[in-house]
Amino acid sequence: MYWLGIDVGTGGTRALLLNETGKIVAGCTAAHAEMRMEKALWAEQDPEDWWRAAKAAIRAVLQEANADGSSIQGIGFSGQMHGLVMLDGNGQVIRPSLIWCDQRSQTQVDAIHARVGRERVVQFTANPSVTGFTLPKLLWVRDHEPASFERLRTVLLPKDYVRFRLSGEVGQDVSDASGTGLFDVVQRRWSRPMIEELGLDSSWFPPIYESAQVCGRVTTEAAEATGLLAGTPMVTGAGDQAASAVGNGIVESGIASCTLGTSGVVFAHMDQPAYDPGGRVHTFCHAVPGKWHVMGVTQGAGLSLQWFRNTLAPGTSYDALMAEAAEAELGSGGLFWLPYLMGERTPHLDALARGGWVGLTARHQRRDLVRSIVEGVTFSQRDCLDVILELGVEVNRVRASGGGAQSSFWRQVMADVFARRVTTLDSQEGSAYGAGLLAMVGTGGFSSVHEACAACTNEVTQTDPRPREGVAYARAHEIYRTLYPTLKSTFRLL
Ligand code: XUL
Repeated sequence: MYWLGIDVGTGGTRALLLNETGKIVAGCTAAHAEMRMEKALWAEQDPEDWWRAAKAAIRAVLQEANADGSSIQGIGFSGQMHGLVMLDGNGQVIRPSLIWCDQRSQTQVDAIHARVGRERVVQFTANPSVTGFTLPKLLWVRDHEPASFERLRTVLLPKDYVRFRLSGEVGQDVSDASGTGLFDVVQRRWSRPMIEELGLDSSWFPPIYESAQVCGRVTTEAAEATGLLAGTPMVTGAGDQAASAVGNGIVESGIASCTLGTSGVVFAHMDQPAYDPGGRVHTFCHAVPGKWHVMGVTQGAGLSLQWFRNTLAPGTSYDALMAEAAEAELGSGGLFWLPYLMGERTPHLDALARGGWVGLTARHQRRDLVRSIVEGVTFSQRDCLDVILELGVEVNRVRASGGGAQSSFWRQVMADVFARRVTTLDSQEGSAYGAGLLAMVGTGGFSSVHEACAACTNEVTQTDPRPREGVAYARAHEIYRTLYPTLKSTFRLL
């Protein structure tokens, strides 16, 4: 008996098989085509490419486990959030998806706030609008591609498109819908006033489900394409951050997670929704019924290191880069990296923020450059944590996951900069694992998300903060915090 978790990420789609105890038995990823960045701040992917990758990953994982489609009890989903998928009346994709890191829609964000009023937007959706969200992307299409907009009948998010291809049913879950900017996060339903005041049509927004609710079954056609059995039930799933939180057991107060993938996210559970009126962090529904979460996002976390490697150190492994960074001195000899390669969300909410180094001297070597990236990204994650703490959310310990958490060096930087114990779990699968656990909860494998997390999350490393290094990093973080305000007006000239 197996359950399948599918994560539609940015770089690829991952399929993971879990057995009846929640143990991972196989995992396969199929890469996506590179995202297209035709202009600065644009980022697009083709939904059809996600579906192609999902089919390949599902077939591969079944083969790897030597499992038959009939052994799959249920399927769960996780996915990159915020991406706009537009379907016409025949269920055809109208145009490529503007994905989460696409930042072209500042004019539309301003227009939303002008039309509805920023405070009312926060009142209706628990967050102000930001360029990352789906709604301003939709309005960008309305403003620039009226012919595409005319044909719109359904708005989906990335994982929902893959689920639609598998089941023929449209739907969204509460956690992912929270990141559209059109969702009443407190009441867990579409925001009627937002839809009406912006002149949109409520029929474009599909039914909403809790994350572990069954919302469809594999069609005969999809069964043929994937090797799954027709009729296999699937749960709605969650946005990648909420799913990752389930995979990491962040379903109660006191523990936060720090997920360092392409983006970097600090995530904390909330029993009641609290929000930052400035919108520096997002308040979204959790994948746990009746619970919420708050998260701060660094747009260019792993992306910073990936950019460095591809551009300045091609062919070097990430492990080798981390070993190099560990040789540089704490503080990188006064060198600071600003990770704003795709603008920034927390805490600046500024699509025009730009990345770069400040403090370079002729003395610096490549190892300082790498270390400054690790430190700069971690300072930005500390900025996220600080806003969450300001909301009165308690955080005693941080669970790290994602590519950055694989490095013991980076985990020590995190522990020192966060001034908190940093732990990792035996499963580093994060969102795909959370998707699998949600499938188990929805189709009889576990009775609740809490039960699944208690049974399946097991801490295997812990890294404690070092007081002396903590003081040195706190001083460096203070300097880091002066850089964005100093450069802000210059970014506008670029
Ligand atoms: C969350 C966010 C990213 C994407 C891509 O708000 O934008 O985490 O989901 O992974």
